[in-house]
Amino acid sequence: MNPQGVLHATRPAAPADDFAADVLAGLKAKPKALPPKYFYDLAGSALFERITRLPEYYPTRCEIGILQDQAPAIASMFPPGSALVEFGSGSSRKARILLSAAATVEAYVPVDISGDFLQQDLVQLKRDLPHLIVHPLVEDFTKPFALPPALAALPRVGFFPGSTIGNFEPEEARGFLRHIGAMLGPAALLVVGIDLVKDEATLVRAYNDAEGVTAKFNLNLLTRINRELGADFDVAAFRHSAFFNRALSRIEMHLVSGKRQRVRVNGATIEFGAGETIHTENSYKYTVESFQALARSAGWTPVKVFTDGMFGVHALRRTEDR
Ligand SMILES: C[S@@+](CC[C@H](N)C(=O)[O-])C[C@H]1O[C@@H](n2cnc3c(N)ncnc32)[C@H](O)[C@@H]1O
Repeated sequence: MNPQGVLHATRPAAPADDFAADVLAGLKAKPKALPPKYFYDLAGSALFERITRLPEYYPTRCEIGILQDQAPAIASMFPPGSALVEFGSGSSRKARILLSAAATVEAYVPVDISGDFLQQDLVQLKRDLPHLIVHPLVEDFTKPFALPPALAALPRVGFFPGSTIGNFEPEEARGFLRHIGAMLGPAALLVVGIDLVKDEATLVRAYNDAEGVTAKFNLNLLTRINRELGADFDVAAFRHSAFFNRALSRIEMHLVSGKRQRVRVNGATIEFGAGETIHTENSYKYTVESFQALARSAGWTPVKVFTDGMFGVHALRRTEDR
């Protein structure tokens, strides 16, 4: 750690070999699918930030409203001298709300796969939080990684906002909640933001904005594959599609091939039929009860939920510690 208490993010969380292998496996699969974590190169993270400010994209506005109203109540559950570990921190906008209400937090650990974006935000973050140790980690949070040894003695609070947990299949979400429970350790508190099931029109609008920013975000995945894997996707020959799959309670995002075409990716040839899709993301929607049931099944006890009827912010405590 340098004298300012800032550790610079130095290594890629998604090594190029993993990216190539995952992309090829996903494009050879039937149906074709790519992991959403690869949306987040520097351009993808910047596009996601633009999405969060769109009029149609209510989740960020709702979650920020809940956090602003409830920050003192949420912060009052934090043990004194704790470290706040945020999974998929992005711009850290939401953590700043909690941290400004939690005077006794000693350290903030933003964890994100998007290393360049995290790096870009570091100086401002440190300027905004001069009283804290800020220890960013460029990591893939689905894989095991170590928390900084300097924080070993501090009680930990996990923070997982943005409904990012909705990008996992429910079974994966359960596994992830267990994994971070083990990492956060005894007496851990976890604050998770999750979008709620609601009317279909509101849900679908949030992923089909009039300005087309979500479409750009989705299509940027092909631009990234072209750049980093030397592929030759004709990006203009694909279009964004997002719809609500009610049976599975999830928004699905796809990239639809506008015609029959052949694409070269890292030495392989991938065939597309007209109208064939690459499934790029799921965003599962939960009720308060269905999310609490998932949390219970993963070793967390619901302590409190804060909701505006559109979005839920859940405080959970590790069950085995009670
Ligand atoms: C939906 S955005 C949420 C961003 C921010 N927390 C918010 O609430 O606005 C998901 C964030 O998680 C990060 N992310 C996605 N998959 C990840 C992974 N496997 N490991 C680490 N970070 C990941 C992305 O880079 C992005 O910043």
